[in-house]
Order: sequence, then structure tokens, then C-alpha cells
Amino acid sequence: MIRGKKKPILKLIPNEIDWVHARSVHTCYAKKSGSQHIATEFALAYLSALVRIIRPKYVLEIGAGIGTISQLLLDHPNKITRLAAIEGNCFCIETLKTRFATAFKERFNLITDPTKIEIGEQYFDLIVIDGLFESKLCDLLKKGSFCFVEGSRKSTRKVIIDKLENRNLAINFVNYNQGIRYFEWSTKYSDGRKRILPKFRFCRILKGCWIGQVTPLTMP
Ligand SMILES: C[S@@+](CC[C@H](N)C(=O)[O-])C[C@H]1O[C@@H](n2cnc3c(N)ncnc32)[C@H](O)[C@@H]1O
Repeated sequence: MIRGKKKPILKLIPNEIDWVHARSVHTCYAKKSGSQHIATEFALAYLSALVRIIRPKYVLEIGAGIGTISQLLLDHPNKITRLAAIEGNCFCIETLKTRFATAFKERFNLITDPTKIEIGEQYFDLIVIDGLFESKLCDLLKKGSFCFVEGSRKSTRKVIIDKLENRNLAINFVNYNQGIRYFEWSTKYSDGRKRILPKFRFCRILKGCWIGQVTPLTMP
């Protein structure tokens, strides 16, 4: 299911190779320690399709976690030139170092302190967001860059849209999701977190990803 205010810039449909790549990375990482927050197979397939179509050379990943998305990007058949990955959690940093620092020495750059990133002339064809996003990083999104957001991250997308607008730029985020689940019962904690209460929803959009490209801002 595709949702979005504007027409998608590209027709993005994962092919068999994207699904196989996404499944193999997801299955492998789901078994690893600390895998509770990894990207969904669905989002990985769409990211694989995006990389196949736009062929990015320089990619920035924000919130690399234990490296599921990093692995998908570094192992992608359309070989990217360089992946810069931001991660601040100690457990994840050690995991990423063990996994990628030697195996992908020439193509993987781990950034543990995002304040050290020099915004200046750097250009990333693609920025992938699946973690803590500092608004200063919006300046790394330039005309033509693509942005991939795993899950929903509504407040992050709003910050990006607002910050780009200040620079006379826009982004046409389009949502790719796994459809809608109707009449769903679940549980939630009460306000004081003392009791577990039932929660009913008429419909819930199943998690996916958002993808957009930065363009000049056109006035209505
Ligand atoms: C949604 S997770 C990122 C997952 C990552 N993209 C992946 O697919 O492997 C967002 C953030 O949660 C934190 N995180 C993820 N896994 C963690 C773990 N096992 N232990 C502690 N923090 C974790 C990291 O700081 C990470 O940037």
C-alpha cells in the first residue's frame, strides 16, 4: 500500500532479488544478540529496491544499531562506494566494529559522535534514518539526495520537512507499508503504569518505511 500527499518520484517495487537479499539479511540478524530493534524484512526489501534503482555512491546511515541495514547496504549487488554509519550506543558500537571495521575496511566508516560530522561540502546520495536524529543533520540533505526512513518516525520527518523549507527545499515523502489491520485488540499500560488496560483500534497501518527525494521548493 502506498500513501503520500504527492506522487512518488520513482516507481518502487522490490523484485525477487530485493526480497531474497532482504530475507537473507533479516533472517541472519534476527538470530543475533541484541536483535530486538532491527529493521523489518519489508523495509529492507524496499531499501534494496531503492539502492538498485538510484545506485547511490555515498550513503549515510543514522542509527546503525547492530548493523542489519549496514549489512544490506554493504552486500548490495549495486556496490555502494562508501557507507558512513552513525551510532552512539556502546553495545552497538562494539558490535559494528567487530562486524564491519575489518571486513569492509575501505567502505565502512563508523561515526560514534555525530557532532563531529563536518556538514560543509559532504554530499550523500542517500541518507537512511533508523535511530536518534539530530536536527543539525538535516543540513546533510541536499538537492537530489534521497532519504529513507524506517518505520514511521513522524516527528523526525516533520523536522526534516521544516528545516528543508527554511533552505527553499522540499521532500516528497511517500509511505510504503504492509497494509491495514482492522479491529485490533492489544494492551497498554495505564497512565501511572500500574495496570495493563485493553486497547481497541478500528484500524492500524502496518509498519513500513517512508522514502523521499529533496527537490527545490515550488510555491503553490
Ligand atoms: C531501531 S534501532 C536501529 C536498528 C538498526 N538499523 C538495525 O536494523 O540493526 C535504533 C537505535 O536503538 C539502539 N539499539 C538498537 N539495538 C540495540 C541493542 N541491542 N542494545 C542497545 N541499543 C540498541 C541504537 O542506538 C540504535 O541506533
